[in-house]
Amino acid sequence: MAKSKIRVGVIGAGNCFAGLYQGLEYYKHHKIDEAAGLMHPTLGGYKLSDIEFVSAFDVADNKVGRNLNEATYAKPNEVDWVPPKDMPKTDVVVQESPVLDGLGVFVLDRVHPVKNKPLDQLTADIKKHIEETDTRILLCYLPVGSQKACEYWAKMALDTQCAMVNCLPVFIASNPLWAERFKQAGLPIVGDDIKAQVGSTIVHRTLAKLTEDRGAAIDTTYQINVGGNTDFLNMKEQGRLASKKISKTSSVQSNLRKPLAEDKIYIGPSDFIPFLSNKKLGFMRIEGRMWSNRPFNMEIRLEVDDKANSGGVSVDAIRCAQIALDRGHGGIVEGPSAYFMKHPPVQHPDPVARQMVEDFIGGQK
Ligand SMILES: NC(=O)c1ccc[n+]([C@@H]2O[C@H](COP(=O)([O-])OP(=O)(O)OC[C@H]3O[C@@H](n4cnc5c(N)ncnc54)[C@H](O)[C@@H]3O)[C@@H](O)[C@H]2O)c1
Repeated sequence: MAKSKIRVGVIGAGNCFAGLYQGLEYYKHHKIDEAAGLMHPTLGGYKLSDIEFVSAFDVADNKVGRNLNEATYAKPNEVDWVPPKDMPKTDVVVQESPVLDGLGVFVLDRVHPVKNKPLDQLTADIKKHIEETDTRILLCYLPVGSQKACEYWAKMALDTQCAMVNCLPVFIASNPLWAERFKQAGLPIVGDDIKAQVGSTIVHRTLAKLTEDRGAAIDTTYQINVGGNTDFLNMKEQGRLASKKISKTSSVQSNLRKPLAEDKIYIGPSDFIPFLSNKKLGFMRIEGRMWSNRPFNMEIRLEVDDKANSGGVSVDAIRCAQIALDRGHGGIVEGPSAYFMKHPPVQHPDPVARQMVEDFIGGQK
């Protein structure tokens, strides 16, 4: 039987969303089974083409009020994989979201917020719009450090009976209080902080685990990342980074037999280099000892398109959220959160988490 469409609303039509949205269009024109970049061409019966963006919310004055297609190309978004003229028409118009703590000081040069309505009226209008568009999943792509804004949208999901996929490092799925609220409401949540497809986190976790599995000891390790998009500009503001650093560091630490002492591990989003645009460079180093206490070290340099890296994972997180909705599952969706997110409610080694995803899709969990 054909599956119904997956009706998604996006919160933050920024670069990550642009990558996901244009990527979905890319796959419409390429043979799915031969195309790279997909963990699941079909997931639980859902094809990529079953994902529809039926609503969108942002704060930028060059996005709010505009057709979603146009907004996706509006600066400071930098994804241009599909020419705008080739994108199919959509009636979706980007709606105003409350700014709250969404915009950091460095980003205000690039993103000029609209503030047309008082908060209570805005909230009522958003609820109405979600109902009218029959949005069923809220995909949260807010900037790092948007604690209040993310909580606003988590509450909005509960109030409007939507599932939530939380791609940023604000702890909702991994906060027992929020997780319980979603459980009580009978609504699924997949979160927190998307673990990119072949990103620094999964590479660093895997190599650290491999080192230990082969009997070597890790003495120190670091990971630094640089990029040139708005996400990296925003992360120059140290005050917005607390949960990002926890999320990235715990993702590596949790994969070790015994966490390293705090002064032996450094993981940070580290700098903004404007001309890198969406290219992200990750530099990792592991120093340790092997047989007979002999020292060794390794260095890895990863170069990726940061936005492809996010889209290749969120496309599966969304479909898992829909399966959970179909099954009437409330609360955290454990396997998909563990495999797709850096800071899930429960960390599992990646091969275990991957199997949990397959079991979940197959209906065994
Ligand atoms: N590989 C990855 O790209 C990756 C991995 C993990 C996590 N993430 C996270 O995903 C999130 C999105 O990243 P991005 O590159 O799209 O960022 P971005 O800055 O390009 O986009 C953020 C969007 O949110 C909008 N916004 C700001 N405040 C808002 C509010 N209060 N309400 C609604 N919209 C608001 C901005 O106008 C912008 O359109 C970030 O938190 C990032 O850290 C990305």
